[in-house]
Amino acid sequence: MKITFLGHACLLIETEGKHIVVDPFISGNDLASHIDLSKIKADYILITHAHQDHVLDVETIAKITGATIVSNYEIVTYYGQKGFSGHPMNHGGSWNFDFGKVTFTNAVHSSSFPDGTYGGQPGGFIIEAKAANIYIAGDTSLTMDMQLIPIQTQLDLAVLPIGDNFTMGIESAIYASDFVQCDRILGYHYDTFGFIKIDHIEAKKKFLDVDKELILLPIGESITL
Ligand code: NI
Ligand code: MN
Repeated sequence: MKITFLGHACLLIETEGKHIVVDPFISGNDLASHIDLSKIKADYILITHAHQDHVLDVETIAKITGATIVSNYEIVTYYGQKGFSGHPMNHGGSWNFDFGKVTFTNAVHSSSFPDGTYGGQPGGFIIEAKAANIYIAGDTSLTMDMQLIPIQTQLDLAVLPIGDNFTMGIESAIYASDFVQCDRILGYHYDTFGFIKIDHIEAKKKFLDVDKELILLPIGESITL
């Protein structure tokens, strides 16, 4: 499984020959100006919630690629009314896709579209593929519900927001990694705008001090699991 960080909360996951884009926000991200939106391959677009910094480029990518949108019922319905194909889920539900099993998890946040349309309840995703099991938390606070995840899934990587203000910050993300029982963390949702700028060296040190690894990928770079 190859995971490429496309800035903010956007990931490109390649596994089982499929391309899965998560929370595309590229054209509005000054830090991701070197990423060519028109060249992104996608079989699926996973959306954690309806905020602009997670859905801005959904329609552009879906139009080019014909990707299937996977999200909560309200978000999939919203795009369905615009003619896009989708697969609706809700919290606690799992579905076996052709690249692996996806579970829609709880997140404590909000989820309205930029135009004010109700975007359902926010979530995150667990992806269980042949190569690896990963958890993508979405925008969320630290929540006790994270403790439910390792009961059913042994994770190889947890993707956690670390930018604070709108989501968890570093200290909470360290507790979250305890809750999900995964010491390998890919940080996201930081640096994009003023309220969420972080000190990378200090952040990595805080994780290292408790024997955890915080990976902060330059935008456009990948890790392989
Ligand atoms: Ni949000
Ligand atoms: Mn966000």
